[in-house]
Amino acid sequence: MNEVTTFSATVSATARNGILVVAIDNPPVNATSADVRLGLSRALAHAEAAIGIKGVVITGAGKTFIGGADIREFGKPAIEPTLPDVIEKIEALSKPVIAALNGAALGGGLELALACHYRIASPATQVGLPEVKLGIVPGAGGTQRLPRLIGVPAAIELIASGRIAKAKEALSLGIVDELAEGDLIATTIKSAQKLTDTPPRRTGELAVAPAGPAEIEKASSKILAKARGQKAPAEAVRLVASSHRPLAEGLADERATFLALRDSREAAALRHIFFAEREASKVAGLENVEPHPVTTLGICGLGLMGSGIAVAALAAGYTVIGLDQTQQAAEKGYERIVGLLERNLASGRLDQSGFDAQKSILVVTTTDADLAPCDLVIEAVFDDLTVKIDLFRRLDKVIRPDTILATNTSYLNPDEIAAATAHPERVLGLHFFSPAHVMRLLEVVRCKETAPDVLATGLTVAKKLKKLPVVTGVTEGFIGNRIFSAYRREAEFLLEDGALPHEIDAALEDYGFPMGLFAVYDMAGLEIAWARRKRQAATRDPSQRYVEIADRLCEAGRLGQKSGRGWYAYPDGKRTIDPEVTAIIEAEREKKHITPRSFSREEIGQRMLQAMATEGEALLAEGIAARPGDIDLVMVNGYGFPAHKGGPMFARS
Ligand code: 3HC
Repeated sequence: MNEVTTFSATVSATARNGILVVAIDNPPVNATSADVRLGLSRALAHAEAAIGIKGVVITGAGKTFIGGADIREFGKPAIEPTLPDVIEKIEALSKPVIAALNGAALGGGLELALACHYRIASPATQVGLPEVKLGIVPGAGGTQRLPRLIGVPAAIELIASGRIAKAKEALSLGIVDELAEGDLIATTIKSAQKLTDTPPRRTGELAVAPAGPAEIEKASSKILAKARGQKAPAEAVRLVASSHRPLAEGLADERATFLALRDSREAAALRHIFFAEREASKVAGLENVEPHPVTTLGICGLGLMGSGIAVAALAAGYTVIGLDQTQQAAEKGYERIVGLLERNLASGRLDQSGFDAQKSILVVTTTDADLAPCDLVIEAVFDDLTVKIDLFRRLDKVIRPDTILATNTSYLNPDEIAAATAHPERVLGLHFFSPAHVMRLLEVVRCKETAPDVLATGLTVAKKLKKLPVVTGVTEGFIGNRIFSAYRREAEFLLEDGALPHEIDAALEDYGFPMGLFAVYDMAGLEIAWARRKRQAATRDPSQRYVEIADRLCEAGRLGQKSGRGWYAYPDGKRTIDPEVTAIIEAEREKKHITPRSFSREEIGQRMLQAMATEGEALLAEGIAARPGDIDLVMVNGYGFPAHKGGPMFARS
């Protein structure tokens, strides 16, 4: 047995044939916390001084190499040594240092690996500098060392997007030097022994291959166009594009930029979203609850929504049985699903064997009894109470008693649907967002009678579908649509009070929404909401303020982009302000004796934000949402709220 030397609580090493194999063991993701930095620093000093040590291997315990700097330390007083100190020591060591990448090497983890003199990766490795997703730039040499290895354009593309690359791509780009199919540590030790005869190849000493402005523009323009007012991506591009200057100068600039961004509101907002995502799956009362095993999934209704759900389910490896009313509808659904798979094949997201495998586990039917083998059935039929109740009652007769029934309703009361079934405790809501194979958000609705194991199964399936599940209680529209209603209402009040649709849209886009509310309405079409308003008219509280402008638009045949006119006009397909809409708005103001006033963009933004936050507070008070962070996740992932503003609950704090 080789003797273990402990350098700190999280860093230890064994000497194997003259190579010091240093392991970082700092669960859950081996982040470079203060204790890791201290341990590494001591291990490096030991390796430098020990005569019997000819080289060093650095690796991670468990399935991660290093997930990055410890985000929980951000905002706290700095503890020496810093990550750049440790990284500088690695690069400067007189003996070869090799990174044995046993899993994800992200952020500071990849930066540490880049300063090693050689990198060997297991096939499970993923590499990336995802700092921009946290509102920062790499702060320990990533923007300076990566372009020295792979060139400026490729480094810009990776760093400014924060994209993660798999092992094979990392090899072809030149980020790693070798892949080890077998025993990673044994392979790395062998390589380390070979490298002891040659001087260490220091990444920081390599020249940056020249790149012209056109190449830089090509690599960065699309990414920056998507940045929606965030600072970090542009700063990342600037730092990489100037990496040909002396290393020390580039590193100093990078560190100063990193520190300034780290302390910004934007970074705090994105950290909030990062931790909220991890918190969301921790649901009170489910700690020791076992989910049901699910392998076969039934989907009722193979329209756009059902087909999207099917595609997500097939990708997750579930066997899918699709049910629709008529042979023609079932066949159309099958074709739509296969069409979406073909698109994935054409785009390279799916290879031929993956395509064949997914297609082979899809069947469609018009016979209820064919759903008998299902462990979970999701309905995505027309959003009508009678239709859904009828379906679930029919299913009650053909599925096993432990099969879970999920409704994808947006606005109906799932408690009423559940109550009409034989086993309400096995019913929950799974509210997907359209297109369901693309959108990450999934509201998991805990109904009055939903059993804990049923809810736990819903969450497990959601994660397997690669969705972001957020648990919500029952209320009209659940978390998202209820806040969205408040937001919409406020926009309509603003219209009546003096703002015009394009002014409100411009304020929202300024704030970071990808598209203004009225432009979105026009894209989606106005008739469904109009029909709902007409249904609700009889029961509407007459003392509540109600804005009729949208009704006037619909009555005038302005049903959105499809009809060529809505909140805007679309001559030649181009969205333009329409004086006719302005006249309708003015007439409504006059009718209500409202003297219009003007609003600044900031004021519009503030009023919209306040409306959302107030509704969010109500959802918390009613126990519909468990945490402010859950509300923020819903709005960021389902409604275009800019992540770098942290969601309405974070933004108003
Ligand atoms: N610091 C602190 N905690 C972290 C962390 C980090 N960098 N990364 C993950 N965690 C925590 C999570 O909060 C979670 O904690 P919890 O169990 O208390 O909820 C736990 O680790 C497990 O995380 P995941 O649920 O995400 O685990 P997965 O196995 O699904 O994914 C991962 C692992 C791919 C490493 C993923 O956690 C991840 O993407 N982490 C962030 C990567 C990142 O952004 N790194 C850059 C950090 S900034 C930086 O390095 C600055 C440098 O340039 C100076």
